[in-house]
Amino acid sequence: MTVYGVGLGPGDADLVTVKGRRVLESVATVYSPGRLSRSVALEHVAESKIGDLEFPMTRDPDELRSAWKDAATEVASEAREDDVAFVTLGDPNVYSTFGHLRRTLDTFHPEIELEVVPGVSAMTAFATALDVEVEAGTGLALQEAEGGSVSTDPDRMILFKVTDAPATYETLTEAGYDVQFGRRLFMQQGETVVTDDPSDVDDRDYYTLAYAERRGLERDLATAEFDVEGTAKREEST
Ligand SMILES: C[S@@+](CC[C@H](N)C(=O)[O-])C[C@H]1O[C@@H](n2cnc3c(N)ncnc32)[C@H](O)[C@@H]1O
Repeated sequence: MTVYGVGLGPGDADLVTVKGRRVLESVATVYSPGRLSRSVALEHVAESKIGDLEFPMTRDPDELRSAWKDAATEVASEAREDDVAFVTLGDPNVYSTFGHLRRTLDTFHPEIELEVVPGVSAMTAFATALDVEVEAGTGLALQEAEGGSVSTDPDRMILFKVTDAPATYETLTEAGYDVQFGRRLFMQQGETVVTDDPSDVDDRDYYTLAYAERRGLERDLATAEFDVEGTAKREEST
């Protein structure tokens, strides 16, 4: 039998992929590592299908290893009888708890088949929510910004875990970037905020990201010149 790592997307149940939904409907148990992923999964499966796994609130590596060993043992014993799913918000292979489960299963239960169903990651959903175009030919870096500490090398960056928006803003604007913040993008729970003012998102909310782009970047795009004409037409027609 198979353990499916299913990406649920950013938090709007309508953004679960068709394949993800099919898998959730077909498996015997859906394990969820958190309250938000559980509530998205519950839009697609009955509560009786949801399996609970215990995770301590700790960064202690020994406690974490022990919790993942227990979780993998539980998932593997169920998977010997039936297909099961482990859901994560976004994509299972992007900054996700699924990596811990996969490594632990690979080591202690290598006989268990694993399959990943990708999900819409905040890493791509941000572009639509913040109205950013990542043009062909450009680079885009992903990093964390916990506590406001970020590297300022790339021209364009997505920052996850923005726990201190004012500090992140200060570091980046001083280093020559324009910065936008996005909170709870495409998420059913809580208020969605898109802003370039860090004081709008200065309270700590784990589901906050930032997009930073070096000021004055050149855009070498064949269709860029249409922008000028397009804007003029829209202005004439209003
Ligand atoms: C541990 S990472 C999980 C990423 C997830 N696996 C994915 O692919 O989107 C969590 C971080 O992703 C960002 N994030 C995830 N979902 C988000 C959303 N709907 N809106 C804004 N930020 C989000 C936040 O910065 C959060 O701190």
